Amino acid sequence: MKTYTLIKFGEAESAFELQEKPTPKPGKGEVLIKSEGFGLNFADVMARLGIYRDCPPLPAVLGYENVGHIAELGEGVKGFEIGDRVLTFTRFGGYADHVVSPAMAVVKISDRLSIGEATALATQYITAYWAAEETVSLHEGDHVLIHAAAGGVGTALIQLLKRKGCIIFGTAGSQEKLDYLKSIGVDYPINYREVNYQEEIEKLGFGKKIDATFNPIGGDYVKKDYKLLNSGGRVVIYGASKMTEARGNFFKMLGLAFGFGFWSPIKFVSSSTSLIGINMLRVADDKPMAFKRALQAVNDLAEAEEIKPFVGKEFPHTELAAAHNYLEGRKSIGKVAVKWS
Ligand SMILES: NC(=O)c1ccc[n+]([C@@H]2O[C@H](COP(=O)([O-])OP(=O)(O)OC[C@H]3O[C@@H](n4cnc5c(N)ncnc54)[C@H](OP(=O)(O)O)[C@@H]3O)[C@@H](O)[C@H]2O)c1
Repeated sequence: MKTYTLIKFGEAESAFELQEKPTPKPGKGEVLIKSEGFGLNFADVMARLGIYRDCPPLPAVLGYENVGHIAELGEGVKGFEIGDRVLTFTRFGGYADHVVSPAMAVVKISDRLSIGEATALATQYITAYWAAEETVSLHEGDHVLIHAAAGGVGTALIQLLKRKGCIIFGTAGSQEKLDYLKSIGVDYPINYREVNYQEEIEKLGFGKKIDATFNPIGGDYVKKDYKLLNSGGRVVIYGASKMTEARGNFFKMLGLAFGFGFWSPIKFVSSSTSLIGINMLRVADDKPMAFKRALQAVNDLAEAEEIKPFVGKEFPHTELAAAHNYLEGRKSIGKVAVKWS
């Protein structure tokens, strides 16, 4: 089988090597999938840059999701047949043309979904679902702030929260992305490069009226978000993209760490607010049934056309480096995927 293996940290052009390896056999409770393609996530960029704590030691095969057809069933696997089209959460190892996966992490998908649409479900939609459905409870008329709103997780959150009738503030860094956000129903798109988003929301009259923020940026964005919260408000933190800017600079890294702030539980009780962290790898490891339930839920919503992942671009596998640069360059809207043929 073929894998794109991360052999060194740094530039996308020299970081990956196309390697030939023996195709693995599925063990008990596992399936072998012949891949059509795999998805990219911003965490892959951070792993390539050497700033992703959960990245396995090099050489490593990155990739959280893969879509393809069942090629072999391991002992005891029920509910799947050879040839079924499936989506799997791979927990690394996804940049490959064959993957072995526990059947628990696999769902059947229809032919209707493209590679990009399907792979968006396994990491970005499941993260958004966990954040917006399992972690916090939101209702019609609630005010929510979504950062990196035009990205993979961001667009997923928008779709899930529009269904509930929430009023959405979304940040992004270009006019093209702001126009896109408007077109998909974001009530207040904000270009964080042009204005201080916290001041802008206050100016619009929504200071201390935000019920939840969804924050993959980290650093001082956490404190700024917190200042906007209403009683009962929550800051949901699921990333630290600002690390890409601070990378290699001790003082910037320190500033980023301090930027998160120091928090006392008393503050949360007295103002009835909370900070919530999400790491889907931990959820997948420690609560596989809950993870499977969320994966099935987003798949069902997609099949029912209640959600529809937006795919920014699908790249041929020979252009993996270009796909990484596209995501790292903050140009992408929605999902970025890679196909084998
Ligand atoms: N905790 C978890 O389990 C989990 C799971 C999945 C994803 N995540 C996190 O969720 C975030 C989004 O992931 P994704 O794959 O969907 O990526 P994405 O949102 O499609 O792409 C990243 C986007 O973040 C925005 N961004 C804002 N500030 C940034 C900064 N300082 N550095 C880099 N980018 C910045 C950029 O758009 P604009 O600049 O235009 O806003 C960029 O396009 C990432 O932080 C990722 O690590 C966490």
